[in-house]
Parts: sequence; C-alpha cells; structure tokens
Amino acid sequence: MSDPTRFRAMVVSENEDKTFSRAIGRRTADDLPDGDLLVAVAYSSLNYKDALSASGNKGVTRNYPHTPGIDAAGTVVESRVGDFAKGDEVVLTGFDLGANTDGGFAEYVRVPASWAVKRPDGLSLKESMVYGTAGFTAALSVLRLQEGGVTPDSGDVLVTGATGGVGCLAVGILARAGYRVVASTGKELEKDFLMGLGAADVISREAADDQSGRPLSKSLWAGVVDTVGGNILATAIKSAKYGGVVTCCGNVASVELNTTVFPFILRDVRLVGVATPDCPAGIRATLWQKMATEWKLPQLDAVTIDCSLDELEPHIASILKGGVRGRVVVDLSR
Ligand SMILES: NC(=O)c1ccc[n+]([C@@H]2O[C@H](COP(=O)([O-])OP(=O)(O)OC[C@H]3O[C@@H](n4cnc5c(N)ncnc54)[C@H](OP(=O)(O)O)[C@@H]3O)[C@@H](O)[C@H]2O)c1
Repeated sequence: MSDPTRFRAMVVSENEDKTFSRAIGRRTADDLPDGDLLVAVAYSSLNYKDALSASGNKGVTRNYPHTPGIDAAGTVVESRVGDFAKGDEVVLTGFDLGANTDGGFAEYVRVPASWAVKRPDGLSLKESMVYGTAGFTAALSVLRLQEGGVTPDSGDVLVTGATGGVGCLAVGILARAGYRVVASTGKELEKDFLMGLGAADVISREAADDQSGRPLSKSLWAGVVDTVGGNILATAIKSAKYGGVVTCCGNVASVELNTTVFPFILRDVRLVGVATPDCPAGIRATLWQKMATEWKLPQLDAVTIDCSLDELEPHIASILKGGVRGRVVVDLSR
C-alpha cells in the first residue's frame, strides 16, 4: 500500500495569469481536509464533472490547487467513528468529494463518514467505480421513472447521450429491468455497443433534436432518461406519450430549456429532476444494493476503459468533447 505521508495525486493549479495547469504530483495526508475516514483509494472514475473541475471550472471547484475525482473506492486506513473500522472497503460518490473537497484522483482521500457506503456484496471495488456517480445517476433516473409509474408495459424508454457514462449505464439498467430501450447517440459507429447493452433500437442525435419549432411532436416515449439538456430535452418532453415521465440530470448540450406548457397540460407529461450529490442515505443504500444485484450488468467489462492516473489526461480532453464511450476507470495501484 502507498504511503499517506507522501502519496500521488493529480493537482490542478491556477496560474497567475488565471489559466490552469494540472500534473501528477505528491501530497501528504496533512494536505487533506479534516474528516472521519482516511481511505486508501484503489479505484476512481472519470465523470464529466471531473473534467470541468480539472479544467478550472469555478462553477464546480471554487479554489485551487485542487485534486478532482468525485468518485473513489478503497479501504479505510484510519477511522474515528464506530460505524467504520480499519480495513473496511467503502464506496464514495457525490456529496462534495472532488468538487470543493480533494477527490479520488489520488491515492488517499479523507471524508466524513456520512459520505461512505460499505462496498456492497456482489460488486468489487473496481466494479463499483465502473458504476460510480454515472451509474448511480442512471440508477436514480430509472428509480424516478418507476416511481412515476413507467413500467415495461408502458412503452418505449428513450435514453439520450447514450454512449456516455450515465447514458450507457441507463441503457443497460433499463434493459435489465425489462424495458424496451431506444438509445440516441451522436456516435453513429457505436450502434453495436448500445445493442450489446440491451438497446432495442438506436437513433441518431439529430433524430432526437427536433428543429421544427412545433410545440408538440408525435407521442413516442413512455419514459425518457435525458443526460444532455437543451433542445434534446425539450424534444423529449414534447415527444413523450400521455402520462410520460422525463428525467433530467445533465447539461452537456446546454443548460437552457425552451419548452411550452402544452406537453404538461395536454399530455400529463412529468419532468423530474435527478440530483445525486446530496441523495439521502436510504435511497443511496437501496440503489447500491440494486446495482450489485438485480441491476448488475453482465456487460460491465464492455463499458470499461482502464487507465492509470498518468494515463488520464487524454480522457479528460475527450470527455469534454463528448468523445468518451462508456466509463473511464482509474486504477490507483498502477
Ligand atoms: N444531476 C446529477 O446528479 C448528475 C450526476 C452525474 C452526471 N450528471 C451530468 O450528466 C451529464 C452526463 O454525464 P457523464 O459523466 O455521463 O458524461 P459523458 O460520459 O461525457 O456523457 C455525455 C454524452 O452526451 C452526449 N453529448 C456530448 N456532447 C453533446 C452535445 N453537445 N449535444 C448532445 N449530446 C452530447 C455524448 O453521447 P452520444 O455521443 O452517445 O450522444 C456524450 O458521450 C453531464 O452533464 C453531467 O454533469 C449529473
């Protein structure tokens, strides 16, 4: 195991000219914030939000130098609470990790105990990071559809941004839960990847991005997991069937949402927000349990891109351009 008095971490710094630079450097446990648990990180993963933090986005991370990484899975090496003991394996996603608290692109993190979930039986530490925040968001989106009454008999469910982290795991979980999934992607060559995850049909990003200006489109979707926002979310809302549920978690296309009231007042469409960082402990535990059992995907290897801390750099550039297919998992032991 690495040494907490001098461990490897990605450090993002703000330069005097207000530009940002990042490098793999050394930090010590004294550099980490106060907290209940010191965790030796085995794996982390790359999410879109990490790429923003790593690029100096002050909407995500206010102060630099900073270590990004909103996800981490590893072993407790010090605990000052009774609920966790040295040697426990834990999964950390969300809350402030990697945002304004030094995160998982490092061999160690220190966090409040309330942020930690014990690794569920049925998921290895690595598998928990294939899911990570992306998988947790996908799972919460599916739960919200189910709570809204969308069943496999209700009709097709659309997933937008389908080859991305949240998107591909939403495709897989929905298919595993028995839904007929239609995946929308800008990557026309990835049809086989999406079919392999269980998509019944794949449509182009353009087909999910109505430019007609009409307030309503043909009723198509019983449910939608939207990961991109903007006009694609607006299109999903006006293409939802009567009583359809549309979840909204992301903004890679745009933070804007221009819609009319017609889908809501004529089709009883419901728009449901999905926010994972502060998700309550009860739902958090339920969803991790589901991801480890009935929603565990047999195709986890197929969505995984393995890399070390040193190999992360090109993936950061790629995810900012929407270029990543699946989940980049960072092995801190390499
Ligand atoms: N609310 C929450 O709690 C929460 C939690 C996790 C993530 N998120 C958000 O969810 C979004 C997805 O996160 P992620 O980590 O899955 O990112 P990701 O891996 O980069 O996936 C995003 C996918 O969206 C599509 N896309 C990219 N740029 C686009 C554009 N300009 N227009 C339309 N589609 C575009 C691409 O898929 P295709 O090429 O297949 O179309 C891309 O792979 C982000 O906005 C992230 O911040 C929110």
